[in-house]
Amino acid sequence: MPFEDYWYVVAESRELTANRVLARRVLDERLACFRGADGRPAILRDRCVHRNAPLSEGIVRRGLLSCPYHGWTYDGGGRVVHIPAMAEDGPQAHCSPPYPFVEQDGFVYVRLRRDAPADIRPFPMPHYGEPGWTNLRLQNRFANSVANCVENFIDIPHTAFVHRGIFRSTRGERLAATVARADGAVHVAYRNERGNLGTYRWFLNPGGHEIRHTDSFHAPNVTSVIYEIGAKTFIITSQAVPVDDRETLVYTDLTYRFGAWNALAAPFVRRHGQRIIDQDIEILARQGENIARYGAEFRDTPADLIHRMVDSIREAIARGEDPRALPKVVQEIEFRV
Ligand code: FES
Repeated sequence: MPFEDYWYVVAESRELTANRVLARRVLDERLACFRGADGRPAILRDRCVHRNAPLSEGIVRRGLLSCPYHGWTYDGGGRVVHIPAMAEDGPQAHCSPPYPFVEQDGFVYVRLRRDAPADIRPFPMPHYGEPGWTNLRLQNRFANSVANCVENFIDIPHTAFVHRGIFRSTRGERLAATVARADGAVHVAYRNERGNLGTYRWFLNPGGHEIRHTDSFHAPNVTSVIYEIGAKTFIITSQAVPVDDRETLVYTDLTYRFGAWNALAAPFVRRHGQRIIDQDIEILARQGENIARYGAEFRDTPADLIHRMVDSIREAIARGEDPRALPKVVQEIEFRV
């Protein structure tokens, strides 16, 4: 079960229109993405079958994509329907087979392998479009691998340093957690978390209640961070799309239910969410430079057990195995923040 068997976001639904072609790279595969005349996504290899010019530099009119070189024109099924240099018009024998797609929760997903197992589906985005919930969507490019991005997204110790003050502060508080690997996912349930929320504490947890905080990873590239504090819930879902080994495009959904505060909170949540992500982009770029120069050689604390479990899932996929078949593991950890 290689990485090509999984579904990856190529665009937000709103970005894919009937008169626009998007260039994307997923697992270093070049893609040209547009909407066909029937409104359905069309995802082709970014290479014209005539003389291999990049289709993503062409133009789309009424759901037909024309190559920028000699004008061969493709429909949403990848069929060549017009060749300007031919006297006869009409359907041609040439075709660029489209990649499978799924449109779900405001995302368009692609899968690079056409005969991949049918039981692998895109991750369902939590509470997307549900009444009472607000969903804010961010896109950011990281100069690092999916593995290191995913590690960052569900890593607590770095937050007291990279996001000092605005997210957490160093207090030496002891945190405990149960970490479980099962069915191609890692679930982390934290205990003893109360007030260390930096700038956000006055709003999220003015009463100092215990916070229900769970993190999870879902093969091969999705992380979910959930905070439940009284009646408030805040969820950060990140889809880390591998552009290549050193570049990752991350779609982050900030999903929350703050009751009457939902609308008022949106600009604040978006601004601070982006600020925190910008700080992570910076440190991950520096880490990526060092790894490119010297290679990756990591040492661990108990908190890093989470990342080792995630690694074990991604390593199974890299070996071509189904990570859902890995044995279930449950461990307790403790560390200080
Ligand atoms: Fe595309 Fe010739 S290379 S039409």
